[in-house]
Amino acid sequence: MTASNEEKWINKKISRREMLKLTGMGVAGIAIGASGFGGVMKAMGYDVFETVEDSTTAKNKVNFYGKHQSGISTPVQKNIYFASLTVLVTSKEELQALFKKWTPLMVRLMNGELMVDLTTNTRVPTGDTGEAEGLNASNLSITVGVGPSLFDKLGMAHLKPAELADLPHFPKDQLQKEYTGGDLCIQACADDPQVAFHAVRNLVRAASGKVEIKWSQAGFNSFPAEGGTPRNLFAFKDGTVNPSIKDEQDLNKVVWVDKGWLKGGSYLVARKVQMHLETWDRTSLKDQEATFGRHRDSGAPLGKTKEFDDFDIEEKDSKGEYIMPDTSHVHLARKSGARILRRSYSYASGVMSNTGAHDAGLIFISFQKDPAQFITVQNSLGRLDKMNEYITHRGSAVFACFPGVQKGSYLGEALFNAL
Ligand code: HEM
Repeated sequence: MTASNEEKWINKKISRREMLKLTGMGVAGIAIGASGFGGVMKAMGYDVFETVEDSTTAKNKVNFYGKHQSGISTPVQKNIYFASLTVLVTSKEELQALFKKWTPLMVRLMNGELMVDLTTNTRVPTGDTGEAEGLNASNLSITVGVGPSLFDKLGMAHLKPAELADLPHFPKDQLQKEYTGGDLCIQACADDPQVAFHAVRNLVRAASGKVEIKWSQAGFNSFPAEGGTPRNLFAFKDGTVNPSIKDEQDLNKVVWVDKGWLKGGSYLVARKVQMHLETWDRTSLKDQEATFGRHRDSGAPLGKTKEFDDFDIEEKDSKGEYIMPDTSHVHLARKSGARILRRSYSYASGVMSNTGAHDAGLIFISFQKDPAQFITVQNSLGRLDKMNEYITHRGSAVFACFPGVQKGSYLGEALFNAL
């Protein structure tokens, strides 16, 4: 951060003690004048920049500050609440102010604290919506990204990385507008569904009038009691072959952007993929296994016995047939040669109103240093993937997720410094 920038907002920083005083004043004022939540937050001092530290004592806590945002190389949690947002602000200054406001709130949420201190004044809406009270931090991670549409909207087209463009149309896509695109995203993952939801709900509430939710999706992963890879709704272990989140050198090759204002950030691709469970459930186990190229129970590649056994997609049996069929999902994904970090969650959202079938599937999420990596894999799956018989891609979005925040800085600062 440059000295002048630092000055600009350090001047605005207030201590926690002053903040509490302000809160008291604000509450008194609100009772007289302000009506909405925006007024409450303003009076409570949240339009000024407050530095909140990562708690050193909170249980099940993921750190907010660091080189990268949380929720990318963080161990996968049990739950996600993913929201794609439309911005209502019309200037970059307003967006910057919003990110400054969100930063301390995000730290507090990830500490498992309330968004703001409780007020005893019952005549105003409470600062925090309250449903996470008594739940601990639950390994909450919050990842924020910006979509391609944001840059044109706010006169920042010159700062839009060339890689950040809407994904191309893929052959079997049946995308619905209501699950596609977005100016911003918030990915909240936690080991408790209510903690994840609470995070998005409160960040959006604190941004009242500045953003609105375009589409959102809750999801879950269920881990075996003894640990290991969770199964998706087709009952196959999902997430076996992935870059190790502990191998920073490999992540530098696959996940982290290494240039421009996004350096240290990553591109997030989200695909809402409906899985036709009824059709799948009528399919023989043999065909199911041929669909993925893996054994269902062990998760091992076909012809092998253990989940993490190595395999060669070109290997053939005595009849000259591929052991892992060349139309299987894993064969085609591997053949693409591209690598991505998958961080997906299952969803079950009632039934399709037109067919009565389960509205269930996978909120597929991958991180990569360039969306081209995802595109290469998806193109390889293309029309050939045997899994196409059982899935429909309904939603799609791509976001550039900011680098991590350093203590004393704020979310997205590098973007605004580049202006
Ligand atoms: C409903 C949608 C999907 C389901 C149910 C699904 C399921 C699976 C399963 C069970 C595996 C094997 C186990 C593993 O390594 O995790 C796998 C592997 C993989 N999938 Fe998917 N997948 C889906 C969509 C996608 C999409 C959209 C992409 C990217 C375009 C993708 C890319 C991959 C990759 C890269 C692998 C690892 C391949 C390797 O072994 O090298 N998947 N998927």
